[in-house]
Amino acid sequence: MPSTVMPTSSRGGGRPAPAAVHAVGLRKSYGDKTVLDGIDLHIPAGTVFALLGPNGAGKTTAVKILSTLITADGGRAQVAGHDLAAAPDGVRAAIGVTGQFSAVDGLITGEENMRLMADLHHLPAREGRRVTAELLERFDLADVADRPAQSYSGGMKRRLDIAMTLVGDPRIIFLDEPTTGLDPRSRHTMWQIIRELVTGGVTVFLTTQYLEEADELADRIAVLHDGRIAAEGTAGELKRLIPGGHVRLRFFDPAAYRSAAAALRGATRDDEELALQIPSDGSQRELRSLLDWLDSAGVEADELTVHTPDLDDVFFALTAGTDQPNQPNRPNRPNQKGTAR
Ligand SMILES: Nc1ncnc2c1ncn2[C@@H]1O[C@H](COP(=O)(O)OP(=O)(O)OP(=O)(O)O)[C@@H](O)[C@H]1O
Ligand SMILES: [Mg+2]
Repeated sequence: MPSTVMPTSSRGGGRPAPAAVHAVGLRKSYGDKTVLDGIDLHIPAGTVFALLGPNGAGKTTAVKILSTLITADGGRAQVAGHDLAAAPDGVRAAIGVTGQFSAVDGLITGEENMRLMADLHHLPAREGRRVTAELLERFDLADVADRPAQSYSGGMKRRLDIAMTLVGDPRIIFLDEPTTGLDPRSRHTMWQIIRELVTGGVTVFLTTQYLEEADELADRIAVLHDGRIAAEGTAGELKRLIPGGHVRLRFFDPAAYRSAAAALRGATRDDEELALQIPSDGSQRELRSLLDWLDSAGVEADELTVHTPDLDDVFFALTAGTDQPNQPNRPNRPNQKGTAR
């Protein structure tokens, strides 16, 4: 579904707002399924906020509510200082939305897609041409501007999508999984684009499946789980919510694995991978004593890796117990609720 919100006034911007997004108790259900069970958000202007959550957690639902595409069943929110319910037009004038699924029309050229957006924003023809040319250049699409968009690669379409969102010069942009499906180079290009937007004072609300992306870009990160914000904070704060890292020992010989597992009773077993995980903070001192102990126990692993906690660990720890498949490469940690707020 094309999900670019249409503006109601040209070249939005408007007065500076204390917070780009301020939401309290947002709720949304579909039938008897509660998708958002009262979520609070506070996003200072000029920052990047990342909403994480497994498939179906309600990330797109949150984006759609905050961008006025659908209404919440409960709660209230101000976006760019405008009340979502009372002044949706004010919200629409200040925001841009790049939906999870492309809003690009494949039958017309990249330039025509851009010009369509300029018309929807009521830009005068000359201004429309100028903005279009500038954005196509900035997004490295000038050379292909006269080709039908359906001939673009996924990464080019995604860049065009975001360029189209920027035609209205929004102060807040919602990017719903901006880099899903992009190769590492295109992903880095997109990150650079997002950083430049923020440098220009734009607030970015993004959803992502890539923890690394949130770690790279976001000032604050929230993890959505079971309809609620399970944790919220900076990447560092979230990483501190879960216990320290671990050392992973892998064995090629099943007999060696079994005897090591017998010797290391406290280790978490991964029988399929023939691997054992031992909690460790990864410090030199702890590693040395662990290695000494392994020597004395006669355990010789074929591979030893040190793992310090990353956002993936946070994600798996906080969203455990849903319909997530088992994560054999992840430490077996109890479901943990916490907030860094
Ligand atoms: N229009 C709708 N009617 C009924 N159920 C819906 C509708 N839109 C979303 N849902 C349900 O709401 C839940 C949340 O969906 P949503 O698209 O917000 O998840 P998401 O976090 O964006 O997932 P993904 O990572 O897969 O994009 C899902 O269970 C989905 O099936
Ligand atoms: Mg989604």
